[in-house]
Amino acid sequence: MSEIRIAIIGCGGIALQNHLPGISMCKDARLNALCDTQPNTLEQAMSQTGVSVGSTRFEEIVTRDDVDAVIVATPNLFHAPIVHAAIRAGKHVLCEKPVAMNYPEARDMAEAARAANVRHMTAFTYRFVPAMRYLSHLVANGFLGQPYHFRCCRLQDWGNRDLGWRQESKLAGTGELGDMLSHRIDFSYLLYGKMKRLCANLKQFISDRQGHASDLDDWTTILADFENGATGVMESTKLATGRNESWKSQDYLELNGSEASVVFYTGKWNELQIGKPGGEGLEPYTIPRDFWTWPNSPRDPEAGDPLVTFRYDQAYELIEAIHQQRDCTPSFLEGAEALKIMDAALLSSRERRWVYL
Ligand SMILES: NC(=O)c1ccc[n+]([C@@H]2O[C@H](COP(=O)([O-])OP(=O)(O)OC[C@H]3O[C@@H](n4cnc5c(N)ncnc54)[C@H](O)[C@@H]3O)[C@@H](O)[C@H]2O)c1
Repeated sequence: MSEIRIAIIGCGGIALQNHLPGISMCKDARLNALCDTQPNTLEQAMSQTGVSVGSTRFEEIVTRDDVDAVIVATPNLFHAPIVHAAIRAGKHVLCEKPVAMNYPEARDMAEAARAANVRHMTAFTYRFVPAMRYLSHLVANGFLGQPYHFRCCRLQDWGNRDLGWRQESKLAGTGELGDMLSHRIDFSYLLYGKMKRLCANLKQFISDRQGHASDLDDWTTILADFENGATGVMESTKLATGRNESWKSQDYLELNGSEASVVFYTGKWNELQIGKPGGEGLEPYTIPRDFWTWPNSPRDPEAGDPLVTFRYDQAYELIEAIHQQRDCTPSFLEGAEALKIMDAALLSSRERRWVYL
């Protein structure tokens, strides 16, 4: 297969901001078809991209002979049916996070993709921040010594604005837990592996967002024990007033081990803060240039805003995995693993107890 022909299902925010420029960057990939249930959104995306094949019905797009791979970027409820239809048609699939509404649904998607021998990928985009990739390299090479703690904090200010489908449980499944904390749950899996048990609390503060009923969590926290012996503390909120809504707001992760502490901020794309035993405190460390892009990515890490452009490496990884007939990083397995933790967090919060995984 020389050129990979791609279809995007769901032409909203993330499709236009991340997936379109990512595909354009890959010289042996082409956007070939689009789908959105909203005719106006579809029409606008077709005219913006010059793509001539479009439909409001995903079934018509995922079954086309001139489509090799499908990117699913719809509200969460629709991920599973679209992914299964694409897999049945023998297409490779990149699905947005959270990949499904719950763990059994995600596990079935991973199993169907494996049985059909198609590539499958979860859009855990922040794995592509260069500093995160270097951090995972450090941890895998024992830099921390004995891991003691995992700590992360995502503080945004979304106020009481209407969040559309994101505030409805029937469309989104969960609120802040799946929207923002799912990425950080994936960080914890990438860096420390599986959790042994967790205790969670989810809270909704705002039930009416500009006249639109909301029934989902605005704030969520997880206390965890990992199988590697470390502890975890995670917090994420949409209601940190004055913190700003965008990626410029607080997104902090700290690991403490017997030999070092390392701090990662998404906003510092090529820098970590490192502390060593007996040192004066944390010191900034610029990561090696080899890590400034995903391996072999054609992206110029200094072109454009690197805090935006790192996201384009995600499409490159999908295309490379298809060409090389190997697993994508991260795959549906990591997507399912995060949903296992999310389901346990919901149960823990509901029943006010520790849940063993
Ligand atoms: N990886 C990330 O960093 C990241 C960031 C933002 C959003 N997301 C995820 O991407 C997905 C989409 O989020 P968004 O912010 O782009 O939402 P959005 O509302 O901006 O766009 C979703 C689009 O899907 C369309 N749609 C709805 N149902 C459809 C269906 N059945 N078939 C085809 N099109 C349909 C809508 O009309 C809309 O245009 C969500 O799963 C979200 O969690 C991931």
